[in-house]
Amino acid sequence: MADYSLPQGSLFLGFDSSTQSLKATVLDANLNIVSAEFVHFDSDLPHYKTKDGVYRDPSDNGRIVSPTLMWVEAFDLMLHKLSKNLDLGKITAVSGSGQQHGSVYWKGGSRSILLSLDPKKPLVDQLGEAFSKSESPIWMDCSTTKQCKEIEDAVGGPLELSRITGSRAYERFTGPQVRKIYEMEPEVYQNTERISLVSSFMASLLIGDYACIDHTDGAGMNLLDIQQREWSKKVVDATAPGLEQKLGKLSPAYAVAGSIANYFVERFHFNKNCLVIQWSGDNPNSLAGLTLNTPGDLAISLGTSDTVFGITVEHQPRLEGHVFPNPVDIKSYMVMLCYKNGSLTREDIRDIYAEKSWDVFDKYLRQTPPLNGGKFGFYYKDHEILPPLPVGYHRYILENFTDDSLDGSMEHEVLEFDAPSEVRALIEGQILSIRAHIERFGMPFPPRRLIATGGASVNEHILGVVASIFGCDVYTVQRPDSASMGAALRAAHGWLCNQNGSFVPIEGMYRDKLEKTSLSCKLSVKAGDSALASKYAVMMKRRMEKEDQLVKKWGRWTQKL
Ligand code: ADP
Ligand code: XUL
Repeated sequence: MADYSLPQGSLFLGFDSSTQSLKATVLDANLNIVSAEFVHFDSDLPHYKTKDGVYRDPSDNGRIVSPTLMWVEAFDLMLHKLSKNLDLGKITAVSGSGQQHGSVYWKGGSRSILLSLDPKKPLVDQLGEAFSKSESPIWMDCSTTKQCKEIEDAVGGPLELSRITGSRAYERFTGPQVRKIYEMEPEVYQNTERISLVSSFMASLLIGDYACIDHTDGAGMNLLDIQQREWSKKVVDATAPGLEQKLGKLSPAYAVAGSIANYFVERFHFNKNCLVIQWSGDNPNSLAGLTLNTPGDLAISLGTSDTVFGITVEHQPRLEGHVFPNPVDIKSYMVMLCYKNGSLTREDIRDIYAEKSWDVFDKYLRQTPPLNGGKFGFYYKDHEILPPLPVGYHRYILENFTDDSLDGSMEHEVLEFDAPSEVRALIEGQILSIRAHIERFGMPFPPRRLIATGGASVNEHILGVVASIFGCDVYTVQRPDSASMGAALRAAHGWLCNQNGSFVPIEGMYRDKLEKTSLSCKLSVKAGDSALASKYAVMMKRRMEKEDQLVKKWGRWTQKL
């Protein structure tokens, strides 16, 4: 019988190195939040001159990167902030989340820098020369369509790649990104001794050595055989020569990455026995943070990207969406859809039409009727992933619209709506797309339980639209940053697995705690009426017909390379 007791007085620390910020959550042994901190890249580290945490290529060729050293300096700053209010010596285990797919290129010889970090100096002063590429490609990058096609062709097509790795080739996935570097910057590729994901990169800083890539975040690379949980030789060979050595070994998400490096013991007074549990991707950590463990539960994360995820027990290859190993279970998988046009596009429409104010944005959502008088739109401030469409805003009005005659009417395109209708068309469009694609993907509808998280989940008006379109109640958790929360929970879970000598189910750790602690979900918005959800189903069908036409005309995958 597994022992699930966490030592009283101990603390568990979880980070989230995301697109726009670095966050931290600290839990006590009863899984209550005792501290939370935040470093915002643009405003706290303005000398990197990022906008929303990234650099966009002005030639708009889809290249989007972040300065690797900025993540290091954010970590220095975060540890200073945490050490002011907290005895870091009480941290028993630490883990973290990284934005998925982003990659870091360590220069030949850099391992020795990591192994001999000087506690008298900040990390940023010691790692300036450690990278063969100073800018990391991140999940927003879409400049590798050519490499995606080459990899899919080499392994036997998109469905075969999806069967092996859990996803067809996607531009932001690490394998196509690595292939692009191998093709376009061969000297950088040659000079690289190790490739880390953002997650394993941050874990490497903490253990003072190269950390393994974990099975879950590793599945966001188009390189891992997700059933065998090994690098797929076939796909790795199709990506770049000599790659397996640069990727290092893999590890389960619940395993220990190593003990904390002496650097942190001396400089921030961590206990030398503090365990570093493998870091993983931000969406997998959110799944853990929301305590999702039942097939039929669905989470919608409204962050920089919008993602939708749930749990399944089987892996079926598909041409849309992703399958990853579940980070807190050894038998099941996590399924996910990802949209690039999430919060930054909502901010764009807010800034153009709603006086740059969420209050005005919310007022417009209140003022406009459900179904928006037949006005609907597609809003892509950035090249979209789902569906794969280029930048552009497209607006349509259903002719002779009444609430009851959505089906047969024609639509025509317009240049712009009135300001309140723009806001509603954006939000209804985003949520209708989610509903349509989860149904197409085969995720259960309606969900057994729907939980919203991420920065925009604080907005009850947006959640109201979710409740109406899904026709079900919407739950939220105490804090919208479920990724760092999930990382802290995984730190505790990894510590327990280590204590017990092998994997133990995470549910045991929650026993009697789910209702009483920071983990409890609260009902945020009640379900809309079912007649309205049915009308939205008709609107969704109309919208999908239009979306399919747009994809036929403009879709990335349909273009000749
Ligand atoms: P990340 O992907 O970097 O973790 P977050 O989950 O922290 O992102 O979400 C940040 C986003 O939350 C911001 O870009 C902002 O647009 C959004 N946000 C914050 N407050 C509101 C609000 N009241 N209504 C809608 N969106 C909001
Ligand atoms: C997931 C994805 C994004 C990033 C955001 O596939 O690309 O959700 O993880 O940090």
